[in-house]
Amino acid sequence: MLCRSKFLYAVLFSIFFVKISYALKYQFIPENDEFFDDCSNQPKNILNIYGLFDASEFTISRQDDIIYMSGNATFKWNIHPGDRIEMSFQLFKFDRIAWVQTLFGMTVRNMCELLYDEPQYWYKYWTKHVKNKKDVRNKCMYPGTKLIHEPFSLNMIFDFTGLPISGRHKVIATIKAFNANNVERPTSICIEVEGQFERFN
Ligand SMILES: *[C@@H]1O[C@H](CO)[C@@H](O)[C@H](O)[C@H]1NC(C)=O
Repeated sequence: MLCRSKFLYAVLFSIFFVKISYALKYQFIPENDEFFDDCSNQPKNILNIYGLFDASEFTISRQDDIIYMSGNATFKWNIHPGDRIEMSFQLFKFDRIAWVQTLFGMTVRNMCELLYDEPQYWYKYWTKHVKNKKDVRNKCMYPGTKLIHEPFSLNMIFDFTGLPISGRHKVIATIKAFNANNVERPTSICIEVEGQFERFN
């Protein structure tokens, strides 16, 4: 019995070790000084970042490879309180002449539940810096919700397990809202962020 559990430990340890050794850290260097880009060739009902929130009290600036953000973002997307908000992320790589979809992607079925969830990348790089999170966490991205940010910088380090990643990439984020009958609202949001991944340390 003892012997068997020791063997099991060894197997578990080596699986764990192999995983660790393949998880590499990369820094994402954004291409656009304003960080966000519009998705290309979208129909009229697909809005960009400025259809999501009013940025008149928000500033984005850049120094070298680091983007700085501060101020207030007030959501203005015309959806209804209580709607389910679904968000998808998909990573594309520029391969010689065209953008090619990669295996990295995820869909969050109910973003309102996870917007301030500490283990998530978006918490680490964005919602962690919302000073009034106690007041707004239940108001999700519903219109009128005003996020008051402390000044923060985007120094984005990601772990990728498996194949090495390098060069020009973009993430396309889409946000859709659904009413209580699971019918999609007429408008949705599409945002692109382009940049380079570079090995970090
Ligand atoms: C952000 O909102 C707060 C509270 O409404 C306000 O006091 C502050 O001046 C705003 N910041 C900017 C940059 O407009």
